[in-house]
Amino acid sequence: VMAEKAGYKHFMLKEIYEQPRAIIDTIRGKYSLEEGEIYFGEVDYETIKDIEKITIVACGTSWHAGLVGKFYIENFAKIPVEVDIASEFRYRNPIATNKTLLIPISQSGETADTIAALRMSKKMGAKVVSICNVVGSTIARESDGVIYTHAGPEIGVASTKAFTTQLASLFLFALFLGQKKGVLEKSEIKSILNDLIQLPEKIEEVLKHDKQIEDIAKEFVRYKNFLYLGRHYNYPIALEGALKLKEISYIHAEGYPAGEMKHGPIALIDKEMPVFVLGTKSRVYDKILANVEEVKARDGIVISTVTKGDKDIISKSDYSFILPVTLEELTPFLNSIIIQLFAYHASNLLGLDVDQPRNLAKSVTVE
Ligand code: G6P
Repeated sequence: VMAEKAGYKHFMLKEIYEQPRAIIDTIRGKYSLEEGEIYFGEVDYETIKDIEKITIVACGTSWHAGLVGKFYIENFAKIPVEVDIASEFRYRNPIATNKTLLIPISQSGETADTIAALRMSKKMGAKVVSICNVVGSTIARESDGVIYTHAGPEIGVASTKAFTTQLASLFLFALFLGQKKGVLEKSEIKSILNDLIQLPEKIEEVLKHDKQIEDIAKEFVRYKNFLYLGRHYNYPIALEGALKLKEISYIHAEGYPAGEMKHGPIALIDKEMPVFVLGTKSRVYDKILANVEEVKARDGIVISTVTKGDKDIISKSDYSFILPVTLEELTPFLNSIIIQLFAYHASNLLGLDVDQPRNLAKSVTVE
């Protein structure tokens, strides 16, 4: 068993460290930097060229990837996207037509609610291109096209490398759609790709924070509640940060889009509820800074991620992780590494079963 874990104490830790490799494998063969072009041989573009709307359905961590995917697709391809939790989608009266592209996202390809959402949409005439990690799984078999994430087998119940490879697939697919629709010029695609290919190295750099994250986790494992805040591209990462902590450390955590803080969660802020802020450089940086100030004004404790060179959020935070400079669109990847390692260390320090948390299953194949 130790051999399977390649010397790591848990599968989850191994899988966190595999992310640079997993992302390289996932994007390989899908682009040419010289040409400024994206390729998706697995998707028959002719059959989806007239779509007017994209619907993403997923559960759990895969749903969080879908939320980021909406930003990518709307930003790069200008196609409207709705994102729904599969168990909600299937029990409302969702609208899909032959002008709808459904994108189910699933690591396992066997999640019962996601399969049901796929089948319903197909009946209504939607085209289906799924993002999936398991070759030959039910979702892969029933889709018109499959974009495979090449994360490799994910054993830890809490998803890590499957998540960031889903993000990478969505990022490239959004660029592909933007290229096909003529929204993006070759030069823009080249410049974006240039940042994307540097991402694995930047993730390696973030992984070097491991010890610092463990030290900070030590200070915080006694707390009973956490709030995670992010905006725009990193709002879904705030949700994911809270989910990871809940799943494996059993510490209660809420993830919120930071702008919603004043509509409720701010009432909870005091010395007993640390606030984890995703504060990397972005178009909403000043807004996040204001949220940090609001937390500090109420004696809250702030743990933040910031971009190298940051002055404001870092000076107002109690603890910060300094991340490499990257394209704003790619900051969710770097922030993900921090929240994953934080949850991992919290769980490990508490002596819990990191890879097999109580009451949870790797794949929810029945309702
Ligand atoms: C379970 C797992 C999660 C996963 C979710 C969706 O809840 O514990 O890690 O995100 O199912 O699974 P899927 O295989 O469809 O991505």
